[in-house]
Amino acid sequence: MAKARQAWGTRLGIIMAVAGSAIGLGNFLRFPVQAASNGGGAFMIPYFISLFLLGIPLMWIEWTLGRFGGGFGHGTAPGIFHTMWEKNRFIKYFGVIGIFGPLIILSYYTYIESWTLAYSVFALTGKYAGASTQEAMKAFLASYQGLGGGKIWPAYIFFIITFAANIGVIYYGIKGGIEKLCNIALPFLFIFGIVLMARVLTLGTPDMSKPTWNLANGLGFLWNPDFSALKSAKVWLAAAGQIFFTLSVGIGVILTYASYLKKGDDVVLSGLSAVGTNELAEVVIGGSIIIPAAFVFFGPVDIKAVAQSGAFNLGFVTMPLIFNKIFLGALFGFAWFFLLFLAGITSSISLAQPAVAFLEDEFDISRGKAVAIFGAASFLLCQPAIFFLGRGVVNELDFWGGTFCLVLFATVETILFAWVFGMEKAWEEIHHGADMRVPGVYKFIIKYVTPLFLILILGFWFFQEGVPTIMMKGIANADKPFVLGTRIFLMAIFAALAVMVKVAWKRKRDREALKR
Ligand code: PFF
Repeated sequence: MAKARQAWGTRLGIIMAVAGSAIGLGNFLRFPVQAASNGGGAFMIPYFISLFLLGIPLMWIEWTLGRFGGGFGHGTAPGIFHTMWEKNRFIKYFGVIGIFGPLIILSYYTYIESWTLAYSVFALTGKYAGASTQEAMKAFLASYQGLGGGKIWPAYIFFIITFAANIGVIYYGIKGGIEKLCNIALPFLFIFGIVLMARVLTLGTPDMSKPTWNLANGLGFLWNPDFSALKSAKVWLAAAGQIFFTLSVGIGVILTYASYLKKGDDVVLSGLSAVGTNELAEVVIGGSIIIPAAFVFFGPVDIKAVAQSGAFNLGFVTMPLIFNKIFLGALFGFAWFFLLFLAGITSSISLAQPAVAFLEDEFDISRGKAVAIFGAASFLLCQPAIFFLGRGVVNELDFWGGTFCLVLFATVETILFAWVFGMEKAWEEIHHGADMRVPGVYKFIIKYVTPLFLILILGFWFFQEGVPTIMMKGIANADKPFVLGTRIFLMAIFAALAVMVKVAWKRKRDREALKR
C-alpha cells in the first residue's frame, strides 16, 4: 500500500535545500526594491521585527508540521491539516492553498528566472553592451520580453531551457535531484555574491563631480534607521510581506520539504540555520549590491524613481548599465545574472515539489508519472505570464499567489498549530530530537503574538491594498479584461485542486471500506 516516502540524504542537505528555497530572486531583486521604495533605513526596523515575530516562528511551525505530516505519509497541507484536525471536514480544502500558492508563484517565477539565464549569456556575448542610457537599457529589456515590437522567441527558448532544467531536477527526486543541486549551487552562489559585494564595496566615489554619491552614503541609505516609518502601515505590510516571501514561509513549500524528514530529526537548529543563511544572503549580500551600486552611479533620487518605475528595473536595467561602465564589466555582469539564476532555480524547484508530492502521496502514483503530469500542467500554467506580461498579469499573479495566499495561509497554519493542535503538544512536537531548545519566550510569541500580528496584517492589508486591488484601481482599461481573465484562471485552478482533494479522499475512504 503506502510506499516508503523519499528522504533527505544528510542533515546539511535539507538545510541547504531549505536555504536554497529561501534564497532566491527575492533576496537580490525584491528586497532592494522594497527597501528603496519604502524609505531605505525606514524599512529595516519593521523588517527585523517581522523576522523575529513572524518569520522565525513560522519556519519552526512549518518544519514541525511537515515532519509530523510526513510521518502519516502526507507531504502537503491538505493531508497535514486533515491529520491535525480530523474532525473538521473542511480544513483539507483550506490546505489546497498549500499547493495552489506555490503553483501560482511558480507560474511567473520560472519565466523571470529564465531572463537571468538569458542575461548571463548576454553579459558574456556583449549583447547589452551597446545600451548606455536608462532608456536604451529599458528598451532592450522590453524588446527581449516581446514588448514594444520585440520578438518573443529568444525569451521563449530560454524559458523552455529553464523549465526543462527544473523538471529534470525534480525528476531525480529529493535526494538525487533537489539536495544534490542545492549542495552544488549554494556554494557557487555565495562565491559570486561575495565577489560582487567586494566589487561594489570598493567602488568609492566613481564620479568626483558628485561627491555625495559615495559608498558611505549608499550604505547609509539602507542602514540609517528612520523610526518614523513605524507609524506607516504600508511599510509594515511591505516588510512583513518581504519576510514571508524571502523565507518561503506561509505557502506550503517548507511543509513539503520537512515532510521528508524522519521523526527524530532536529527541526529547531536546522530551521534556524536556514533562516540565518537566508538573512546573510539577503541583508548582507543582497543589501550590498544593487542599492549601494545604484546609489553611487545614479544618486538617491534616481534609485527611488527606478525602483518605482518597475519591479525589475534595478536588476535588469540599472545593474547592466553599471557593468557597462566598470572594468571587466562583462565578467561581473555574468556573475550577477548567473548568481540570480542559481538563486532562482533552487527556489523554483521548491515551488514545484508540493504539487508533485501531492500527486505521489494522495494518488499513490510513481514519481515519474507525477512529474510527467505536473510538467504538462505547469507548462500550460506558465503561459499567461509569458504572453501577457505587459498586461498586468504578473502583478496580479504575484498579488494573489505571492502576497494574499501567504498571509492567509500563515494565519490559519499558526492558529491550527498553537490552538487546535494545542501549544503544549506543539511545544513537545517541536522539540522531538531537537539539538537546541527554543527560547521559552517563543511559547508565548507563537501562541499569542504571531497570530495576533498576522490577523492585524491581514486586516490592514485587506483595507489598504486588498480592496483597491480587487477593484482594479490604477489598472488601465485596456488591461482590465486580462486581469479579470487571470482571476478566472486562478479560480479555475483552485477549484480543480479542490476537486482533486475530494477525489483523493473519497478513494481513501472507499479503500478503507473495502478492507473492513
Ligand atoms: N524565497 C524565494 C525568494 O526569495 O526568491 C521565493 C519563494 C520560493 C517564495 C518558494 C515562496 C516559496 F514557497
